[in-house]
Order: sequence, then C-alpha cells, then structure tokens
Amino acid sequence: MSVTIVMGCQWGDEGKGKIVDILSDKADIVARYQGGANAGHTVVISGEKFILHLIPSGILNQNTICVIGNGVVIDPVALLEEIALIESKGIKVRGRLLISHRAHLIMPYHKLLDQAKETKDAEQKIGTTGRGIGPAYVDKVDRMGIRIVDLLDRETLKTKLCRNIEAKNEILNKIYEKDGLNVEGIINEYVEFDQKIDPYIKDTSTFLNEAIRDGRDILLEGAQGTLLDVDFGTYPYVTSSSPTGGGACSGVGIGPTKVDNVTGVIKAYTTRVGMGPFPTEIHDDANVNLRELGDEFGATTGRPRRCGWFDAVIANYAVQVNGISSFAVTKMDVLDTLKEIKICVAYKHNGKKITSFPSQLHILENCEPVYETYPGWEAPTTGVRHYEDLPVNAKKYLEAIRTLTNTDISIISVGSDRDETIFIKSRNL
Ligand code: GDP
Ligand code: IMO
Ligand code: MG
Repeated sequence: MSVTIVMGCQWGDEGKGKIVDILSDKADIVARYQGGANAGHTVVISGEKFILHLIPSGILNQNTICVIGNGVVIDPVALLEEIALIESKGIKVRGRLLISHRAHLIMPYHKLLDQAKETKDAEQKIGTTGRGIGPAYVDKVDRMGIRIVDLLDRETLKTKLCRNIEAKNEILNKIYEKDGLNVEGIINEYVEFDQKIDPYIKDTSTFLNEAIRDGRDILLEGAQGTLLDVDFGTYPYVTSSSPTGGGACSGVGIGPTKVDNVTGVIKAYTTRVGMGPFPTEIHDDANVNLRELGDEFGATTGRPRRCGWFDAVIANYAVQVNGISSFAVTKMDVLDTLKEIKICVAYKHNGKKITSFPSQLHILENCEPVYETYPGWEAPTTGVRHYEDLPVNAKKYLEAIRTLTNTDISIISVGSDRDETIFIKSRNL
C-alpha cells in the first residue's frame, strides 16, 4: 500500500490530469486537496477528451473512489454540472465521489468580487480564472466562509448567507460600484443544493485514515503548481491555496508520516497563464512555436498559454519545497521537431549568477536565463513505449534534466492519450 502525492512543479497545466488518470489504474482512492474550479485537468482516453475541474482525475477509472478534500473550495453549480456531464458519458459518479463536510463553498459573490477586482485596477490585475477562488479562500481565513456542512442545517445556512450577502453587497456597491445580489434568490438556490449534494457528503479525513490503516493505495491530486503556491510561488501572481506537497496533508486531513511518495509532474518545457514574471519565456521566435506545437491553450478559460524553455532553477526549487521522489516528465513529443532545445541552468542578475529561485519579484523580473543548448532529436516519440527506444538525443535531454535536478524520472509522457506513456522501471535512466 502507498500514499502518493501527484502535484505540479511549474505554473500549472503540466499534465497532472493525465498522470493521475494513468496512476489511478492501480489506486483505490484519488483525493483532490486544494484549489477549485480554476483547475482544468485533461484526460484523453482513446481520443476522447475529458476536462475535469473539481472532480479528481481518477473518476474515469471505474474502480476508483474519488474524494474532494477539505482544502478544496467548491462551487456547487460547477460541481453539479460536472457530475451531470460525466454521468452523461456513461461513467457512474454517485457512490464513487465523496465530498468533505469541511470543504468551503464558492458563492456567487466570490465570483463577482474576483471579476470586479480584476477589472477595477489594471496594474493590480493577476489574470485570475474568474472562478471566485481568491475571495472564497479570503472568507475561509477570515472565518466568514460557508462550508459544505452548513448545507445540512437550513436555518444556520440562511443566517450565514444573509450576513455574508449583506457584507459583500456593501463592498460591491461602495468599492466596485456594482449592483449587489438578491438575498432571497441565493438562499432559495443554495438550500436546494442541500438535497443534491447530501448523498456525497462524508467525513473524508476519517475515511482516508481508515483506508490507509486498511492498506489501500491512495493518490493525492494537486491542482495548479509550485509557482502558483501562495507561499512559494511568484507572489502576488499566484493562486490562493497551497498546491505544494505540504498542502496535501492539510487539504485532506492525513498526517505527513502517512505519505510515501511525491511525484512531481513537470513539462519538458515551461508554460504559464496569467500575469507575472517568467524568465525563460520565448517571445516571437519563428523557429520555436511551442504554443502551436503543444496546443497550449487553457483547459478552463481557453486563454493562450505563455511558453518558454525548461527551467532547471525552477525544477530544483520544486524538488526542494515539495520533497519530490521522482518526476513525471510530460509533453516530450512537443519538442520532437526542434533542431535545438535549451535548458536554463541558472539566472544572471546584475552580473551575478543565481541558482536559487528569487523571492523578490523585481529580481526575478530582471533575471536573465543562462542556457545550455541540446541538439534536438528530430524524430517522432509518440509511438515509443520503452525508454531504450527513444532517440539518443531525447535520452540525452532527459538525462540532463535528471542530472541537473538530481532527481529520477519515473514516467515520460509522449502524447495526450493514456497509452502514450513510458514507465521507467529502473531507478537510473
Ligand atoms: P493539468 O492542468 O496539469 O492537468 O494539465 P492540462 O490538462 O491543463 O494541460 C495539459 C495538456 O497537455 C492537455 O491538453 C493534455 O491533454 C495534454 N498532454 C498531457 N500530456 C501530454 C503529452 O505528453 N503530450 C502532448 N502532446 N500532450 C499532452
Ligand atoms: P491546473 O490545475 C494554470 C492561474 C491563473 C492566474 C492565477 C490566479 O489546471 O494546473 P485564480 O483563478 O486561481 O485566482 O488565478 O493562477 N491558475 C492556473 N494556471 N493552471 C491552473 O490550474 C490554474 N489555476 C489558476 O491563470 O494566473
Ligand atoms: Mg490545467
């Protein structure tokens, strides 16, 4: 039995959905530990694409139980839509999805506040997904949040909703000059969620701890990535939760001594959506169009992703803050046609070489990447299933990642489909 955290090492969209889906083949339970419907996790099965926002990516394996942990912020409207969509494809969700009674709810005012804040001041804009994530976590920490458990008690729910809507309407009116929300309408809508969500509600911390005691295999699925972490990311251009390894324990209610492995999902290059510094970003290079090659458009918002070279400073930072046991390197095939591929091995700032990831934004913004250049393999890799069969230069590139980070690679993804995957058996490439 084992408990494995699967989390993102860069700015999200590393391919966590695909990796969780393939690993869940052997897992009894997959639990999401943070974030909300800002996530877009793609799983492709025999050409059919599924995009998951709140439900763990294990749901497509019929034998896996899925848990939405206490660390997740749940938009009931998005959740019910997602359940309906998955069930419409013939996949059973009822009886296989458990939702923590301690998880916080995203309310309509969270979404309005998120969007209003983003449009009010262009200089402060983060480029959020507009899903209400930041304001929902603010309310949680401010002890004003409404939790799943509150849906079970109509009177308390009504009292809390009235208090919250009144307070938020004042902010919407006075600060953002927007119309407030109708209290009655929201109360009627949310008391209805009680019946719809009730069958899924559970004390998921107890459930997971019992499962661990019974020797079951568990995956803890992160959303977003290390550099979007509210503590370790490129603050303030981050999300409002803790996607890093440490967030997994508090996000599902298990102790750190129960975790056996941390699989860091990392793209063979780098992408980011939204604002903020990105040292290895490629600007207008006619020879290297990673956005087109990798089809880099957001799974949640459809926004074009910013693209750049693999950054070993970031990879090392991810190893450090997450305690990564091994990497799953994704989207290797996207580099198949390139003549040369660069890896950033350090930054230069004011003439000085830096190898640790800077915490000060103005330093990061002015860092110049120091690159090593590797010859491309200029051959297709999507059909490859064994490490030995990869082109020599692809193996050299992966070996460089392993050496620069002193971290083994356990999985290589060479296409979006489930099957387009190479598992590394031996610990040394
Ligand atoms: P996540 O948020 O980390 O789950 O990643 P996303 O689903 O947002 O983005 C990853 C995208 O890359 C999705 O469209 C996947 O279908 C796709 N993908 C995942 N692995 C591979 C791969 O190895 N090669 C290619 N070409 N696409 C991949
Ligand atoms: P997955 O799980 C990529 C980014 C947004 C924005 C910042 C804050 O699919 O990897 P938020 O709405 O969370 O307040 O936005 O975080 N962001 C993501 N970028 N993948 C994601 O999720 C993201 N979730 C949020 O673009 O820059
Ligand atoms: Mg995504």
